[in-house]
Amino acid sequence: MIAVTGATGEVGGRVARRLAERGAPLRLVVRDAARAPEIDGAEVAGGAQYADGDAMLRALAGVDTLLLVSAGEALDRVDQHRSAIDAAVRAGVERIVYLSFLGCAADATFTFARDHFHTERHVRSSGVRWTFLRDSIYMDFIPLFAGEDGVIRGPADDGRVAAVARDDVADVAAVVLTEDGHDGATHDLTGPEAFTLAEAAEELSRATGGQVRFVNETLDEARASRAPSGAPDWVIEGWVTTYAAIAAGELDVTTDAVERLTGRRPRSLADFLREHPESCRHLRQA
Ligand SMILES: NC(=O)c1ccc[n+]([C@@H]2O[C@H](COP(=O)([O-])OP(=O)(O)OC[C@H]3O[C@@H](n4cnc5c(N)ncnc54)[C@H](OP(=O)(O)O)[C@@H]3O)[C@@H](O)[C@H]2O)c1
Repeated sequence: MIAVTGATGEVGGRVARRLAERGAPLRLVVRDAARAPEIDGAEVAGGAQYADGDAMLRALAGVDTLLLVSAGEALDRVDQHRSAIDAAVRAGVERIVYLSFLGCAADATFTFARDHFHTERHVRSSGVRWTFLRDSIYMDFIPLFAGEDGVIRGPADDGRVAAVARDDVADVAAVVLTEDGHDGATHDLTGPEAFTLAEAAEELSRATGGQVRFVNETLDEARASRAPSGAPDWVIEGWVTTYAAIAAGELDVTTDAVERLTGRRPRSLADFLREHPESCRHLRQA
């Protein structure tokens, strides 16, 4: 039995559909059962909030392999993950595949990536077999880096990022979850090429026929330009440091993992934009 958390979300939902296509015995572990995707043959376990260890224990009874999708950003996200991992161990789960982040480290520039480092450490010490899928920034977010005014603003300088499409991440996860041979492996999942945000702006301009451009900001300018959102400081710091990590070269990593594991070349930004013209709807007038 394979359990997929986050199945109401983008990556978890995609993985669940791929596992169902492969005929894998599947349980969707979700917070709200009413919002679980309808997938023939899949069991649904609701009420499964990571922080609620007993609910997670019930949801994971009889599960062999768990895909643990990282939680939404929160100040106590690592504690939430620890609770879910401990529940998995208590439930007798044998293998955890954790959706992590590229270059996660205790001192990663991208502040949200630090949670993944601490979560990975907890998984390693839990005694279960594990595989880490360290995703780059989702390609799906690149069009959204540009505002409706057609400007990508952020302190990314001329750093590069090899963003990876959620669909490619889901393809890899489906392979890793249903095949042996990935224990103790860390797969860095990236797109086929690393690009600067100025190059991303050029690609977005080509795709939309508009004028998209990149404007570099200092860290302070970036904090100030995001302050009107009203988001708490730690959230704004997470947004801003996404760009700062690009500037620092920490996301300038391109691997062959997607192709090696799925047999297919990962989508480039141009491929993604062709496949998802709706991702640029907000830029059509730019
Ligand atoms: N690589 C990147 O660029 C990038 C960018 C953003 C986020 N991420 C991380 O990648 C994860 C998956 O991405 P996504 O696009 O699939 O996100 P998504 O569409 O927001 O889905 C997140 C899923 O996780 C569930 N979830 C969140 N917090 C939870 C908790 N505390 N307990 C139980 N379930 C929880 C959500 O359940 P509900 O439907 O009940 O909310 C949802 O099903 C995100 O959660 C985030 O940690 C990565």
